Amino acid sequence: MTYENLTVAVDERIATVTVNRPDKLNALNAATIAELGVAIGDLRTRSDVAGVILTGAGRAFVAGADIGELAAQTPEAARARSLRGQGIFRLYETCPKPVIAAVNGFALGGGCELALACHVRIASDVAKFGQPEVRLGLIPGYGGSQRLPRLVGRGRALQLLLTGEIIDAAEALRIGLVNRVVAAGELAGAARAMMLLMLANGPLALAACIDVADRGLDMTLEEGLALEAERFGALAGTSDMGEGTRAFLEKRPPQFTGA
Ligand code: COA
Repeated sequence: MTYENLTVAVDERIATVTVNRPDKLNALNAATIAELGVAIGDLRTRSDVAGVILTGAGRAFVAGADIGELAAQTPEAARARSLRGQGIFRLYETCPKPVIAAVNGFALGGGCELALACHVRIASDVAKFGQPEVRLGLIPGYGGSQRLPRLVGRGRALQLLLTGEIIDAAEALRIGLVNRVVAAGELAGAARAMMLLMLANGPLALAACIDVADRGLDMTLEEGLALEAERFGALAGTSDMGEGTRAFLEKRPPQFTGA
């Protein structure tokens, strides 16, 4: 599959999706958003792909939605743009394979929102984060107003949303917006190393973790616990659980098959 504004490379079951519009700091115009949708649709179903790393080319991860396009939008078009982008970001968030954002630079507006939709965020020490939409007289349209409070808490999220301030990687780590910060030159290796840790585990268990954590956030504790028990039980019927527990008892690495 060929893309205009993305590159997708698969190496040892890890797909790296790079937003590749560096002269515009990888700003998400309609074409790039659409390609992000095509890419995740493809990678979710590819049997040679077990995990996805999302990053940006050049000095930005993604510097936001394309402000040139925003400037010209009608209320109807803006609402449609928001719904379209939300749907595509949701495909990353609900991907049954782990998705790691390797945030190499500016992650502003839609770029911060894209990182928020990933399961884990690793940042370069030169990365910058923010939701500066209010400076344009807007709010986030790709889920930031909902995911940021869920991730870092209402007070910290509202500080970022209301000031539009840009924070550095150390501050993003302090408030829990990112999982790890590494030196810029180590970002790709660190993302890959974390992905390999994940991919050493049973793929059905990975998919179940992602799904129950996602759905559980919208449930009462009692409902979430019931969901957990249901999936815990279902996994007990899989070959992978037999293999994982047997391998532990036999003091050898497991060979998971995803069955
Ligand atoms: N939409 C469209 N174009 C963008 C963009 C965006 N969100 N962010 C950057 N660009 C473009 C710039 O217009 C510029 O294009 P040009 O060379 O054709 O003029 C190019 O990318 C480089 O950006 P520039 O502003 O010159 O780089 P900088 O290092 O001086 O500043 C930022 C970097 C990220 C601070 C600045 O680009 C910025 O504030 N971007 C907008 C961030 C934002 O508000 N995002 C949320 C949108 S909802």
